[in-house]
Amino acid sequence: MTIPTYSKITGLGFYVPENVVTNNDLTQYMETSDAWIQERTGIKQRRYFTHGKDTNASLATAASRMALDRAGVTASSVDLIVYATLSPDYYFPGSAFLLQRELGLEGVPVIDIREQCSGFVYALSIADQFIKTGMAKTALVVGSEIQSGLMDKSTRGRNVAVIFGDGAGAAVVQATTDPEHRILSTHLHADGRFAEELYLKEPTSIRTHKDNFDPEGSNVVMNGNTVFKHAVVRFMEVINESLTANGYTADDISLLVPHQANVRISDYVRQQLKLPEDRVYNNIQRYGNTTAASIPIALSEAFEEGRVKSGDLICLAAFGSGFTWASALIKW
Ligand code: UT7
Repeated sequence: MTIPTYSKITGLGFYVPENVVTNNDLTQYMETSDAWIQERTGIKQRRYFTHGKDTNASLATAASRMALDRAGVTASSVDLIVYATLSPDYYFPGSAFLLQRELGLEGVPVIDIREQCSGFVYALSIADQFIKTGMAKTALVVGSEIQSGLMDKSTRGRNVAVIFGDGAGAAVVQATTDPEHRILSTHLHADGRFAEELYLKEPTSIRTHKDNFDPEGSNVVMNGNTVFKHAVVRFMEVINESLTANGYTADDISLLVPHQANVRISDYVRQQLKLPEDRVYNNIQRYGNTTAASIPIALSEAFEEGRVKSGDLICLAAFGSGFTWASALIKW
């Protein structure tokens, strides 16, 4: 009889740049206020990278080393890297190559994925499938972003710029035969009809030799209201999908770790699921929205705080640009 292989998260890590940018700091560049930002988003501060010191891959490397340490495995055990980011160091090749180089893992396959705010859950799902089919045994799954340089920090771009921050999170995902402690399922969705509701146009390959780089297209553009309305619906759908698929109800969730998009979105979802405050993790206050990095940073911090324990039912859920939405249900 063949024993089925599952996957489980055995180590978590994160790294955020040292440079703390408060809401008040942002008032130097744009007309905004600490009160507006906190009331509309919950954010108090975020981290920005330091030019010449931090790169997307350097943040990812620091987060990965912490995750590997905590998993008790050396980098040489890693046989797959799945790396999610919307803000790679180069247009190509992807930052997974740079992380692989830093870790000395020449020859190991790397997969760069986008999928923006759902990127980490997509990456986790890919690692889970590779492990379940025997293609990998120890995967490093990373979400890393340096987004602060992609924002229009004048008043014109304030609805976007105040939200986003920089940082990285990582998880070591390993094969297991233990059905009680594993990733139960992952659920991925996308709807390209809404691509331009939250997007970054440049650098684009679809220009003729006469066109120049369009500086207008080099800042993130977001229709915040539309994104918000879709987010609250899709978060609920994809969380319920994961619960139904495994025979659970919301009441069984030990901790929901949502993508940190806006504390009002998290609160809405929490209320709909009738979960008490201590069963939904939020750290957007400290880091803002770090896109693909937000879930692994939040999960790492929750783990450090003792809020993720053996036997817990952990739900990860995300929604973002694309649109994409995704969830993972984990029996820790
Ligand atoms: O992670 C991927 C998914 N992203 C999201 O889920 C983001 C979803 N969207 C949101 O979180 C919200 O839409 C925002 C936080 C981005 C904006 O909040 P909002 O309540 O939707 O505000 P709004 O865009 O409707 O703007 C309301 C007012 C406007 O002024 P008027 O027209 O009413 O005079 C804006 O100009 O607030 C103004 N405003 C600001 N004021 C001060 C917009 N941004 C700012 C700002 N500071 N930073």
